[in-house]
Amino acid sequence: MERFSSYVASMALAALTVTVHLAITAPAAIAQPPLPEATAVTTVTIEGYDVDFTLPTAARAGCMVCHADQDLTRIRDGRVISYFVDPGQFEASAHGEVQCVGCHLDFAFSAPHEQLGTEWQSTAGSACKNCHEDQALEVGKGAHRAETDAEALADPEAPDRPLCSDCHGSHQIGFLTENPEGRAEMRARGWEVCGRCHEDYWYSYDDYYHGAAYRRGATDAPACWDCHGYHDIRPVDDRESMVNERNLVQTCSPCHPDANEAYVDYARFIHGREEISDEIFLARWADWLRQNLSGLFGR
Ligand code: HEC
Ligand code: HEC
Ligand code: HEC
Ligand code: HEC
Ligand code: HEC
Ligand code: HEC
Ligand code: HEC
Repeated sequence: MERFSSYVASMALAALTVTVHLAITAPAAIAQPPLPEATAVTTVTIEGYDVDFTLPTAARAGCMVCHADQDLTRIRDGRVISYFVDPGQFEASAHGEVQCVGCHLDFAFSAPHEQLGTEWQSTAGSACKNCHEDQALEVGKGAHRAETDAEALADPEAPDRPLCSDCHGSHQIGFLTENPEGRAEMRARGWEVCGRCHEDYWYSYDDYYHGAAYRRGATDAPACWDCHGYHDIRPVDDRESMVNERNLVQTCSPCHPDANEAYVDYARFIHGREEISDEIFLARWADWLRQNLSGLFGR
């Protein structure tokens, strides 16, 4: 912070330079609109970084003058915080062609940045909607849609609903469409994507065929979103929910093409193994499995 107090001074100096510069070099009759201030000066040294103001204000290269520096750290509350953004990693992400200010709408090509509090985090985490309208509309239909003010006031203790970035991250977002590797990487982050907010259902997802296998890392076992969907997720009693009774056959059929009404009765086991410890019930289930799943028992 101390080093930054010199910033105000250096910017004042920069402004002065612009004025002088223009006064001396500008020919009397320029048949052009006035240049934006940012392109008038060449290089200004801020905090030891040579910030090139000939770059367009929104250019990523401008941000990266400082943020590509591995040593860009600050001490906050006694902890070292890194503000380094790995250029290679960013360029390899799905947003390799996207400008920083596409998500960091509230940041300008000047630094240090005005005191933005933590608002900038939710701005960045939901700026996605400007470019991914379809996905934003889907999220807006389900249980994770942004709270209305009335809802927020009604229960200030209610846990936060996820922003796009809570599930997708920030600078390392990979391609998912037609990219099995990217999708596998996301599957492996199930705890972060869903589990950490739905701990009870994370731990109860423990039936042997699916949950226990998934949490052990089996790649063919379903992730939470194989049964619940991912953007338009609905409560079970909503008729549109993928786990609502009337939709179960359809939900299970991508992996179980022969699923029918009787088969999907198993669904109650998926989060319910622990609760359904009733012996009679289990005996009934063993019978059911024997009858329905030929070849599975007694081979
Ligand atoms: C002259 C150097 C410099 C430039 C240019 C710069 N930044 Fe920064 N940025 C910093 C520093 C230093 C910090 C550390 C936090 C602070 O002290 O403001 C920071 C912090 C941040 C943060 C985190 C804010 C926080 O409070 O944790 C974001 C996001 C950010 N910059 C984005 C950008 C974007 C986007 C651009 C380009 C539009 C940019 N920066 C240009 C130096 C720079
Ligand atoms: C796809 C959207 C997106 C783009 C593009 C993007 N950021 Fe970010 N950035 C985020 C999100 C989301 C966060 C994390 C906010 C939080 O902590 O909740 C973040 C965090 C940061 C931080 C804080 C430190 C950290 O790594 O968490 C800095 C600094 C930063 N971004 C700089 C940049 C710079 C520089 C660029 C351009 C090279 C850039 N960002 C491009 C979304 C983006
Ligand atoms: C609750 C977690 C979660 C939230 C919140 C979320 N997503 Fe997703 N998103 C996913 C999952 C999971 C996938 C699919 C992974 C797969 O295909 O295996 C996905 C897929 C995508 C895709 C790939 C194309 C597609 O539609 O399948 C895009 C783009 C995307 N999300 C953008 C967004 C945006 C923008 C937001 C915020 C409006 C958002 N996501 C909110 C979990 C989430
Ligand atoms: C300025 C526009 C812009 C913003 C803002 C933006 N994206 Fe993207 N996003 C793109 C572009 C361009 C691509 C790559 C081309 C494509 O697939 O559409 C992309 C690709 C993706 C993909 C891979 C899509 C796929 O089908 O494989 C995901 C996931 C994604 N973005 C999520 C996000 C999230 C989450 C945020 C916010 C944190 C965000 N995007 C912010 C423009 C943007
Ligand atoms: C940042 C925390 C967060 C993340 C991450 C998250 N959720 Fe949620 N989820 C919530 C909150 C909060 C609600 C409750 C909304 C309400 O009260 O109407 C909710 C509601 C739901 C519901 C509706 C039933 C209910 O309990 O209200 C389902 C189903 C659900 N989430 C599944 C998922 C799945 C699957 C994922 C991962 C793809 C996921 N969630 C990721 C916070 C989260
Ligand atoms: C194989 C399918 C399947 C998978 C995978 C799955 N679930 Fe479920 N989930 C269900 C079914 C069926 C129900 C409704 C019956 C019940 O509550 O046991 C349900 C219910 C829920 C509910 C309560 C919804 C409500 O409205 O009360 C939440 C929350 C939930 N699941 C979260 C998760 C999370 C988090 C994961 C990943 C760890 C996950 N589920 C994985 C099938 C699945
Ligand atoms: C993403 C794929 C996937 C989805 C979706 C899925 N399952 Fe499964 N299921 C599996 C795998 C993998 C096994 C283990 C098969 C084995 O070991 O032979 C399995 C095994 C089972 C079994 C044990 C007997 C058998 O047929 O192999 C039952 C019963 C079952 N699933 C029911 C369901 C129900 C009900 C749903 C929908 C609520 C569902 N599954 C959704 C992948 C899935």
